[in-house]
Amino acid sequence: MKKHIVLLPGDGIGQEVMDAARAILEAVSDQFGHSFTYQTADIGGVAVDLHGTPLPEDTVRACKKADAILLGAVGGPKWDQLPSHLRPEKGLLGIRKELGLFANLRPIKGFSQLLHASPLKEEVVKGSDLLIVRELTGGLYFGTPSERSEDGQSVVDTLSYERKEIERIVEKAFQSARLRRKHLTSVDKANVLESSKLWREVVEEKKKDYPDVIVQHLLVDAAAMKLVTNPSQFDVIVTENMFGDILSDEASVLTGSLGMLPSASLREDGVGLYEPVHGSAPDIAGKAVANPLAMILSAALMLRYSFGLEEEACAIEEAVEETLKYGYHTADLHIVDGQRVGTKEMTRLVAEAISSQS
Ligand code: NAI
Ligand code: MG
Repeated sequence: MKKHIVLLPGDGIGQEVMDAARAILEAVSDQFGHSFTYQTADIGGVAVDLHGTPLPEDTVRACKKADAILLGAVGGPKWDQLPSHLRPEKGLLGIRKELGLFANLRPIKGFSQLLHASPLKEEVVKGSDLLIVRELTGGLYFGTPSERSEDGQSVVDTLSYERKEIERIVEKAFQSARLRRKHLTSVDKANVLESSKLWREVVEEKKKDYPDVIVQHLLVDAAAMKLVTNPSQFDVIVTENMFGDILSDEASVLTGSLGMLPSASLREDGVGLYEPVHGSAPDIAGKAVANPLAMILSAALMLRYSFGLEEEACAIEEAVEETLKYGYHTADLHIVDGQRVGTKEMTRLVAEAISSQS
């Protein structure tokens, strides 16, 4: 398979973890006989320095021609004092919007070697392996009106959705469930919110097209509670923008490390942007100690969701699991025994584990 991938390393450890992802993709293409081409473009603070804008036109153009995009991270203290239109994160929001990426997928898995690293009890976290599908371009964060009255004494925000916006995210969630354990939890607040009633209606309708997927509806407050008391009951969770923002941060504590969490932002035709959940980590940037696994696992998501290469995606995930199993870990992972390694060594070990799979 031939695919063209745009790489947006960005700032801080972004470049270091991007090099790692590329090395892993090369190991995969060698092993499975694919041909990936790469083009690197600027985004974030580095783009501000070089081009005077966090999202240069050339970058947008390159991304629009790509089959998929990998992004490292943007931002850092160097750019904190800039006016808001020059802030690095404007580059990230801008590219998501330019590409119409409405579905945000965050898989969260408790790797067995890291269970004790979670603030939750090991027996609670054990076996948790879930995927949050968050609507990313509508809902409460984008509804209008969103404003303060002239006298400053009243405010309004609006949670609005078009039926077709709900349909496309719900469909994405059903498709994702089909690639996993075929269980979908739709999270809403249908006992109070009109928007949630339509959301529930759409899920019930779509269910007919996916008879093999088991569907459960849950109110968001109950979902928040169950995520930390019984996370292993979940497979795929689909929900509105703000609910998803909150629940995905809550669920991220299950794994115990930011350096392990990948994410995908997708649209209908399969084009997607893949990035680690963590930021540019200025405190460790340039020290060659960053954990590359979140970025590497993001590349695995790209193979799965944009290219349909399920076997290749699993090969990466299993290689990561195996490397951790041997006790290798970067400094952010609090593994008692085992050997601490840097970014490059970790990447090499994962690449080797891929190449030695039969
Ligand atoms: P951060 O995620 O960059 O770092 C938080 C802590 O986790 C730091 O101690 C860092 O060293 C550690 N950490 C993060 N990723 C790691 C990795 N792969 N390996 C080892 N340790 C890792 O969040 P923070 O410090 O709040 O933000 C730093 C900068 O990143 C800010 O400018 C922020 O705006 C930006 N940021 C960018 C994001 C993005 O590009 N999507 C997301 C979050 C923050
Ligand atoms: Mg958040």
